[in-house]
Amino acid sequence: MIRGNRPIRKAVIPAAGLGTRFLPASKAIPKEMIPVVEKPILQYIVEEAAASGIEQVVLVTGRQKTAMEDHFDVSGELEDALKQRGKDALLELCVKLRELVEVVAVRQHEPLGLGHAILCGKGVVGEEPFAVMLPDDLVDGEGRPGLRQLLDVYEERGEAVVGLIEVPPPQISWYGIVKHEPVAPNLYRIWDMIEKPRPEEAPSNLGIVARYVFPPEIFRAIEETKPGWGGEIQITDAIRKLAGERAVYGWVFQGRRFDAGDKLGYLEATLHYALKHPELGERFRSLLLERAQSLSGGKAG
Ligand code: UTP
Repeated sequence: MIRGNRPIRKAVIPAAGLGTRFLPASKAIPKEMIPVVEKPILQYIVEEAAASGIEQVVLVTGRQKTAMEDHFDVSGELEDALKQRGKDALLELCVKLRELVEVVAVRQHEPLGLGHAILCGKGVVGEEPFAVMLPDDLVDGEGRPGLRQLLDVYEERGEAVVGLIEVPPPQISWYGIVKHEPVAPNLYRIWDMIEKPRPEEAPSNLGIVARYVFPPEIFRAIEETKPGWGGEIQITDAIRKLAGERAVYGWVFQGRRFDAGDKLGYLEATLHYALKHPELGERFRSLLLERAQSLSGGKAG
């Protein structure tokens, strides 16, 4: 239900990082273009954006920018060839892909941090609330897209919303961890947060991940943020500033979330989407069961 808050139409996708965890693959192609089954990771994100009602995506790119933009653009030669060969289903797939959303690319000249990358979208976003989607994070909202879940909270409350997950204790120091107060099922008011705390100083086990909805005031908060953890301009520090001035909510994602920027998380995401795949799912499941059986029988190395 929309209580007077205009629907959000723009999403910034920061994709200008170095992707060092995916070297050497990320040396020649952006890690966001590595496929999970047959679709580049970035395509899952853009599909989630479109399914959530986003009309314009602001892609923040660095090196190798053309591969990402080209993927969502017209490919005349390819489309002509598919038409000539009567490959209608594949042609439709290409046309649908470029009609998902409008993609605008802006450049981050140096990877100065996630906060800085988001600030690079300011010129296109302007003075309106917007979403941020991290392409490292795949969210299968199982019925309600991950970003849509946050937008529903925004449309009701009109304030910033960040995605949250329950973080297992050994991983606490990988995330921005929040100090919170529950306000409704899965919904929290956030009072404070610490970027990558030691387990003993973490205020809770809820970590900020994947998706955000911000009022335009976040840009000023980022501009006032000095380089923090790792010498980078951290978005967590800017959200902290915002939370000191107005309400910030946190929503615990319903469904599954995968850290596809990490090798093991990527493999887990591949398993998940391969099992759900309409053409491959059944056969992949058999393959997996066969493999699991041989592993548990101690036959496979
Ligand atoms: P990460 O820190 O996970 O990505 O940033 P990274 O730096 O590319 O990866 P590793 O750690 O070296 O493997 C989260 C998201 O923010 C973007 C990244 O592209 C990624 O999608 N990002 C990060 C930027 O766009 N610019 C930056 O300066 C930093």
